[in-house]
Amino acid sequence: MDLTDIVADIVAYIAAQEDRGTVASYIPELASVDPAGFGIAIVTADGAMVAGGDADAGFSIQSISKVFALTLALGKAGDQLWERVGREPSGNAFNSIVQLEQERGIPRNPFINAGAIVVSDVNLGGHQPRVAIGEMLRFLRYLTGDDSIAINEAVAASETATGFRNIALANYMRAFGNIHHPVELVLGTYFHQCAIEMNCRQLALAGRFLMLDGRHPDEGRVVSPSRARRINALMLTCGHYDASGDFAFRVGIPGKSGVGGGILAIVPGRASIAVWSPGLNENGNSRLGTLALERLAQRTGWSVFSPAGDSADQ
Ligand code: DON
Repeated sequence: MDLTDIVADIVAYIAAQEDRGTVASYIPELASVDPAGFGIAIVTADGAMVAGGDADAGFSIQSISKVFALTLALGKAGDQLWERVGREPSGNAFNSIVQLEQERGIPRNPFINAGAIVVSDVNLGGHQPRVAIGEMLRFLRYLTGDDSIAINEAVAASETATGFRNIALANYMRAFGNIHHPVELVLGTYFHQCAIEMNCRQLALAGRFLMLDGRHPDEGRVVSPSRARRINALMLTCGHYDASGDFAFRVGIPGKSGVGGGILAIVPGRASIAVWSPGLNENGNSRLGTLALERLAQRTGWSVFSPAGDSADQ
């Protein structure tokens, strides 16, 4: 199996696709992104990087930031976090409010918006948003070894001006006592974290600790092995919202999507993968990013449901 050939095949396969999905428009600043873009970067356990397409193009990581925010929040709150947010797939859209009333302000999981807003509340920890955001940026720069990672302020401002659903979710959870800080501060943290910009290479590097059982390849342990496995489990079961089952069926590895069109996918022990294509499917996940990962899994045989050896379908 030559990964360089497989990546070249995927880039050509994606270039030939006519239906590129629909770019997110509810955050106005994202609406102007060109749907033609596609990038892929794969870091393997031996440290090799194979990339193709627009792997150096920056994009808004949006909900992929929830993986890193969860990692930080677990570091602060430990298992007590699970008293405030669940670990079950929601079966609902990423921005849905319907379950929150019946479940008394406890979001189903940390990857739907409501859950990620609770995670931001934990990460605020009595400080100003700039402290929590600074911590997130430092974490990503440490994971990647790349100090150029930054926030796109125009995207953050755009979502701050139009994020009425998230404002509603935060206020609703505050009414149940599950948001402890003023909602403006919590959402300031959340919107800025979502507006972090990265390219596929950087994102694949940032995911290495989830491939390596919690270890940074150069810097040592980031989280315990069991915590890394649990984050991967949540990515598999909840990382694509109400399409998480379909993603597990088609791709078979943990993945977290964002409405900027990125997906971070992890093959434990083998690879950390980032794909990006800004057109989304009806569930708000990258249409071609998912297709690319499906083809990659077929060609490599990578799956959390198969033995460790390569057993490609074709
Ligand atoms: O809160 C929002 O709606 C966005 N900042 C993030 C949503 C998102 O990325 C959903 N993922 N596919």
